[in-house]
Amino acid sequence: MTPDLFSTVDVYIDDLFVTEDEALTSALLDAKAAGMPQMQVSAGQAKFLYLLARMVGARRILEIGTLAGYSTIWLGRALPEDGTLVTLEADPLHAEVARRNIDRAGLSAKVRVVTGPAIITLPAEIEADPAPFDLVFLDADKVNYTAYFDQFMRRVRSGTLILADNVIRKGTVLAPRPEDPSAGAARAFNAMIAADDRLEAIVLQQVGIKGHDGLAIARVK
Ligand code: SAH
Ligand code: DHB
Ligand code: MG
Repeated sequence: MTPDLFSTVDVYIDDLFVTEDEALTSALLDAKAAGMPQMQVSAGQAKFLYLLARMVGARRILEIGTLAGYSTIWLGRALPEDGTLVTLEADPLHAEVARRNIDRAGLSAKVRVVTGPAIITLPAEIEADPAPFDLVFLDADKVNYTAYFDQFMRRVRSGTLILADNVIRKGTVLAPRPEDPSAGAARAFNAMIAADDRLEAIVLQQVGIKGHDGLAIARVK
């Protein structure tokens, strides 16, 4: 199959702007070898997350949905020396592979991988420390995005950056079908953040090697 123009341009951009070192390429190879799904952010999307984290000077990051730790490593690399990142992952195999990858990237002192469904583990993380998150990246089960949002909003401050992946889903959010609960959930999430007076928000539509999707970007007022 010939790649479409969006994918070709995506590859052009990634080749220009993104260098993956051994820790990142090995992370992806190990994930593949373990039979894990290849649904991490693209290299360019990861660089974008990294830049956003740098731009807001994030010191405390919450990620929901670790997979093999590819986005985790990028976000972890955006942290200052004393920065921390906690990432929640339901699948014990994913968490194990991710811990190894994060360790190889030299980030195990800054990054903690918490195993278990985030709906169970998140409340404890919220209670653990009153210091607000500077950046939250949602990328796990889409049906729980609104529930996660309600939880982590108890640990934010003015300026906290909230990012949520996969909220356009090839445009299926325009008219979600009952058999696609993720589309319905993404639509509900987008409506929720759009209407929330505590936020200033937008969705960035994305096309490229991951197809057609979108990233929600919100700032706590
Ligand atoms: N952020 C990663 C990709 C995450 S893929 C990256 O870009 O590199 C989504 C991950 O969320 C998968 O590993 C999946 O196991 C995990 N997940 C699914 N449901 C979950 C839940 N209820 N709680 C925590 N993690 C979940
Ligand atoms: C899927 C999940 C993701 O987080 C993603 O970026 C792409 C696809 C999925 O569940 O299919
Ligand atoms: Mg995603």
